[in-house]
Amino acid sequence: SPTLDTIRAIVAEHRHLEGPMLPILHAIQEAFGRIPAEAVPAIAEALNLGKAEVHGVVSFYHDFREAPAGRRVIKLCRAEACQAVGSEALSERVLARLGIDWHGTTADGAVTIEPVYCLGLCACGPAAMVDDTLIGRADAERVLAEAAA
Ligand code: FES
Repeated sequence: SPTLDTIRAIVAEHRHLEGPMLPILHAIQEAFGRIPAEAVPAIAEALNLGKAEVHGVVSFYHDFREAPAGRRVIKLCRAEACQAVGSEALSERVLARLGIDWHGTTADGAVTIEPVYCLGLCACGPAAMVDDTLIGRADAERVLAEAAA
């Protein structure tokens, strides 16, 4: 398949590197916006690793996603300063309203939600970001409205 051909080409280009796994995964993510399922066995074979090992790396690093990202990405800060001003409650509300968990994407593909650890808005938490828009003193309504805009 063309997907597999691209994956093979990326693997071939990077496999000589020391520690080739992450550069390969980044290049694949860059090419497809996600890690297609067929990448895991292809990488495993090329690097002489088990599929479980490759899959483990993909799922450990949340930068890599196996499903395509939603059209909008909400990031909610879970670091200390924001926790002190209610980021956990905010997160619970937003996750519940969307009916998804961290790293999840709504069934209609509209929204993906990711935790982040500090957005540099500690003085006016809880902080959120919708795509490139930062939101200070965020509440669930504002975050969801921004994501729906
Ligand atoms: Fe949330 Fe810094 S701790 S923005």
